[in-house]
Amino acid sequence: MSKKKDLNVGIVGYGFMGRTHSNAYLQAPRFFDVAYRPVLKAACARNADRVKGFAENWGYQSAETDWRALVARKDIDLIDIASPNDTHAEIAIAAAKAGKMVLCEKPLGRTAEEAKAMVDAVEKAKVPNMVWYNYRRVPAVVLLKKLLDEDRFGRIFHYRSQFLQDWTISQDLPQGGEGLWRLDSAVAGSGVTGDLLAHNVDMALWLNGPITEISAMTETFVKQRKHNLTGQVEPVKIDDASAFLCRFQNGSLALFEATRYARGHKALFTLEINGERASAAWDLHDLHRLNYFDHGDEGQLRGWKSVHITDGDHPYMKNWWVPGLQIGYEHTFIHQIADFLVALDGNRTAAPTFRDGLATDYVTDAVLKSAKTKKWEAVPAA
Ligand SMILES: NC(=O)c1ccc[n+]([C@@H]2O[C@H](COP(=O)([O-])OP(=O)(O)OC[C@H]3O[C@@H](n4cnc5c(N)ncnc54)[C@H](O)[C@@H]3O)[C@@H](O)[C@H]2O)c1
Repeated sequence: MSKKKDLNVGIVGYGFMGRTHSNAYLQAPRFFDVAYRPVLKAACARNADRVKGFAENWGYQSAETDWRALVARKDIDLIDIASPNDTHAEIAIAAAKAGKMVLCEKPLGRTAEEAKAMVDAVEKAKVPNMVWYNYRRVPAVVLLKKLLDEDRFGRIFHYRSQFLQDWTISQDLPQGGEGLWRLDSAVAGSGVTGDLLAHNVDMALWLNGPITEISAMTETFVKQRKHNLTGQVEPVKIDDASAFLCRFQNGSLALFEATRYARGHKALFTLEINGERASAAWDLHDLHRLNYFDHGDEGQLRGWKSVHITDGDHPYMKNWWVPGLQIGYEHTFIHQIADFLVALDGNRTAAPTFRDGLATDYVTDAVLKSAKTKKWEAVPAA
């Protein structure tokens, strides 16, 4: 195997995503034929002891407590933003200005306006950039994209997608601060619209093309919660549930729904697409299966097939174990960084880029706007 070039990584945030990304940097060059080897140069977060512990655990060479110091370092090529949504724009723009490659967690901005400034910064600096919409890298979903690109479905009539959770139902759950920043609109930007629906939307735009107009409704079921940072009971300004109807540019109609109030569901991300000649359905809880109906099948056994996507000719699978053996959630991040490294070697950019992330933010902004105006809202092109 040829010697890999070093790619020096500085990561911001050691939480949930800090761990998935760190694992991906370590595993991608071991399992995929990539020209670069990510070198874990520095981890950054505000708590000095905890960031040091995280750095030691994952093999980062150093720790920083101020992202500005991280961005200023000459020995870092790539800044990876794995911190809450209110930090994305400021860090990404500074990193681009410093000439660093920038990877950013989703949603790209708290609003499309923030996301647009981030796109302008990376495009002006001409630095490689990518948003971590990792579900695009589930092998079954990549196979679905291939089937759509091969025009096996014919005209598309319907798309529907849900993301259901149940972890905020208790009225006693506080808002804000560590672990609960998602309930604080100042930090998160929005509730389930930016947190969950953004994933459904990114995948839908990739699979089914642009969305043109939207009619939405949102609800905040628990109106007040104690704020962890102030100790006061404060109004809750995020959306607890969000649902919308929309039209795609290809003429299809769609239904989307996300909530944290679907008792019993932990992370039920589903999608179904119905075309003239075929339909397909996928579900994160059974992420290796692609359910497929082909109208061309003849005979009494025609019907839905449940295909187990683990063979060597399925997307990404030849890099893993043997046919029939599954991979999981963390592999979507490994695939994404492997694709980034391959693209980098070819002077290309791996999707979803910041501009793709902006397209999703335009949709989620239109959802929130339509829920307020109670009118259909147009979605701008990114
Ligand atoms: N792609 C996905 O499926 C997915 C899943 C979960 C979260 N996310 C996104 O990832 C981001 C982080 O979410 P998480 O669940 O990892 O959060 P988390 O609360 O688990 O971790 C956040 C980390 O950011 C650090 N941090 C906060 N403010 C900071 C600052 N100013 N400077 C430096 N560090 C700071 C915290 O100390 C913590 O280490 C969010 O944007 C979220 O939407 C994406």
